[in-house]
Amino acid sequence: MKRVVIGANAHAVLSKALLLRRPDLEVRGRRYTDVTEDDLHWGEAYLGFRRPPVAGMGNIRWVHCTGAGVDAWLFPEELPRDILLTRTAESFGPMIAEWALARALAFSQQLGAVAQDQQQRRWQHRDVTMLRGTRVVIVGTGDVGSHVGRLFRALGCVVHGVSRSGLGDPEVFSSCSTAASLATEAAKADWLIVTLPLTAATRGMVGRGVLEACRGAVLMNAGRGAVVDESLIPEALDKGWLRGAALDVFDVEPLPQESPLWDDPRVVISPHISGPTTPIAALDGFLDCLNALERGEQPLTVVDRDRQY
Ligand code: GLV
Repeated sequence: MKRVVIGANAHAVLSKALLLRRPDLEVRGRRYTDVTEDDLHWGEAYLGFRRPPVAGMGNIRWVHCTGAGVDAWLFPEELPRDILLTRTAESFGPMIAEWALARALAFSQQLGAVAQDQQQRRWQHRDVTMLRGTRVVIVGTGDVGSHVGRLFRALGCVVHGVSRSGLGDPEVFSSCSTAASLATEAAKADWLIVTLPLTAATRGMVGRGVLEACRGAVLMNAGRGAVVDESLIPEALDKGWLRGAALDVFDVEPLPQESPLWDDPRVVISPHISGPTTPIAALDGFLDCLNALERGEQPLTVVDRDRQY
């Protein structure tokens, strides 16, 4: 495969770096929203996170997704299965772990309130609490969930993992259970941290049953918006099921202006920045796959179409 279409904001950097490493390739780079049907008929391989807004994939035979979550290539319509789908090998776990820790500390140290007090020159006592000894339930025990767990465990938290298999790294998770136990575990959580990809099985997994079971947890979502029933978050906060929420991903992105979440002081919003793709790692992952394909081998990061990640 010699003709590569890059659909990414960082297309200029990616195109230049790719051609430096593989001058034999031909590359067309654009923002993914600007990719045309003509580009896709010209190209053989596509490198990008999201699906370009055109019908069909032309002559593309291989899509390499530069994100960890490949849901853009599965929903609402799955990329035809005769097109190879691979995903990046980049680990977003360390970044997302710090994102989660920053939010946990923002709640436990009341950073928002303290900053407001300072702005008003107000000497106001605030009850700050420790993370040590609190219970963290991490939903998703893969690479991201494990990095998150490791960081909280290092601070003395008790870390429980919930996953499809009910398994997780025992050096990170002091216990693990399957998704069937999610509501029971949510009831015991001080921090409920979602790191799941979006699949048919995870869509809506944190729904009314789970939220209602919560006893004042802070919900964090760095997986995909649609894993959580976002419309229920205001009610969950009002009824005290949740004490707060830190959300990096949303059902619709950008989060619509009319969403009630924007104005809620109990909610900390970030615009899908917890684990950004880096151009160098994106390219490394692409070239690893390309090298494997050129050797006639199966790349290591082929997406399992049935598992959907
Ligand atoms: C970001 O959301 C990713 O899937 O890498």
